[in-house]
Amino acid sequence: MKKISSYILAIESSCDDTAAAVLKNNEVLSNCIANQEIHRDYGGVVPELASRAHQVNIVPVVQQALSIANIDKKQLTAIAYTRGPGLVGSLLVGSSFAKSLSLSLDIPLIEVNHMQAHILCHFIKNEEKKPPRFPFLGVTISGGHTQLILVEDYFKMTELGTTLDDAIGEAFDKCGKKMGLNYPAGPEIDKLARSGNPKAFEFPIPKVQHFDVSYSGVKTAFLNLISKNINKNPNFIKDNLNDLCASIQKTLVEIIMNKIEKATYSLKINRVVIGGGVAANSEIRKVLNDMSISSEWEIFIPPLKYTTDNAAMIGIVAYYKLKKNELGEMYQSVDPRLVI
Ligand code: KG4
Ligand code: ZN
Repeated sequence: MKKISSYILAIESSCDDTAAAVLKNNEVLSNCIANQEIHRDYGGVVPELASRAHQVNIVPVVQQALSIANIDKKQLTAIAYTRGPGLVGSLLVGSSFAKSLSLSLDIPLIEVNHMQAHILCHFIKNEEKKPPRFPFLGVTISGGHTQLILVEDYFKMTELGTTLDDAIGEAFDKCGKKMGLNYPAGPEIDKLARSGNPKAFEFPIPKVQHFDVSYSGVKTAFLNLISKNINKNPNFIKDNLNDLCASIQKTLVEIIMNKIEKATYSLKINRVVIGGGVAANSEIRKVLNDMSISSEWEIFIPPLKYTTDNAAMIGIVAYYKLKKNELGEMYQSVDPRLVI
């Protein structure tokens, strides 16, 4: 019997990117994103402005995703949306749009956990690399999260540790803001660090128990270093920009790497799967690749297009939920603090 394909339209609007994707089974046909430039002027995401920009962007982004995929909305099998975690106003725009479309087309609605999606993006069809086998250590490193997760199956995920304060991406962004870099500063720090000396400045590695991490101490140490030195030399940032970027990047990466090593050792798992915006960082990609050689780990790093927020990752989670007939309900509200 011929297998029937599913066509899923996925919508992601948890923070400041409005994204839509169309998947045919586990294959991505289109993956469109409208970034919200407006937040650059404020040095961070302004929730109220994010919701308004989602309202403006959502219809064109969905239309673009359908058009690139060459799919008419009448051909869709289901509509997926991000239920949380994220900013409540942003989530409401995506969820209301998804619910309305699902009602009008009379097709199933599927709700997706954004953090599960950052991990399951590795199951998107990829001719170059097979997906990871279970169990594995999942690591989500983004602007809002820093988590170590034991992943035993698609939906059997247990959080082992998390950040006690700032997320790793948040630390990148706040340190970058202090240096006058645009939001989000992570990619800029990554670039500037390439011609800097990572040993030029030293920052303390916090001692945190178990598999938890902390980033606020190192962030404060960085901010204090700048404030102290700028009094003596007003050009301190300009004179040391590359070294400052390389040194802070090395420390931020080292903090999470220490915990990844500890977790693989105590769980006796040698498969590490990374997800989230900071997975785009070239230093962490290099350290992980080196680690895979020296420790014989199997490392899974997503293609760059699936690291920062995107709707293809929402679509792949929905594909596995549809297979299990795990559908969403119209009465379900968004959950800004949805846990994994
Ligand atoms: O996953 P994501 O797009 O959104 C959240 O769910 O938070 O992650 C955004 C975060 C930002 O903090 C951004 O600065 C960081 O990912 N980021 C990077 C790089 N690219 C994005 N951080 C360091 N190096 C990069 N290349
Ligand atoms: Zn994210």
